[in-house]
Amino acid sequence: MRLAILLSGRGSNFVAIHDAIARGELAAEMVAVISNRPEAPGIARARELGLPAHVLDHRSYPSRGAHEEDVLRILAEARPDFIVLAGYMRLLSPGFVAAWPNKILNIHPSLLPSFPGVDAQAQAIAYGVKVSGCTVHFVDENLDAGPIIVQRAVPVLDDDTAESLSARILEQEHAAYVEALRKLASSQWRVDGRRVVRSGSS
Ligand code: GRF
Repeated sequence: MRLAILLSGRGSNFVAIHDAIARGELAAEMVAVISNRPEAPGIARARELGLPAHVLDHRSYPSRGAHEEDVLRILAEARPDFIVLAGYMRLLSPGFVAAWPNKILNIHPSLLPSFPGVDAQAQAIAYGVKVSGCTVHFVDENLDAGPIIVQRAVPVLDDDTAESLSARILEQEHAAYVEALRKLASSQWRVDGRRVVRSGSS
């Protein structure tokens, strides 16, 4: 399974997926790592690991479309089976998403459809939920909305801050992304409307 990673920052999900591949827990190969931020620690790590790392700084393009065109060009050359958004802080245009139907994955730090958008962990605390978690889902044209591949739950504790809850969720994110990719690698799944189900199940 060929994976392209898109990131903007820390890159801990990218590293977790890389480590799972290195340990032989995920049969995959990273064919491109793309960052829209030159200073992202994740892209520095990709270089250290000797992966094909690309920086496409969105600020040096005249438009969103021009930036996406370059991202799409690199993806076309890398021929990934799946595009993995790992803290990629850019919205993808409907045209981009349509070019890779059910091939783009994202991870979000809440149990969707609760708390889409930014600061999901702070939203969960402010709302007062007792359980939150993370969601790996396919990307469609709506924000944090595509078919769900894997979810993992964590408790929200009375004394949690956005930071402490984020850390608890992040640990599960790393496992959830690997679990989702293993599921996709097995090829025993299909998308049925909003549902990602085992092939053969009705
Ligand atoms: C994660 O919390 C992820 O759920 C969200 O952005 C953060 C990325 O973290 N989409 P990292 O860059 O993978 O460490």
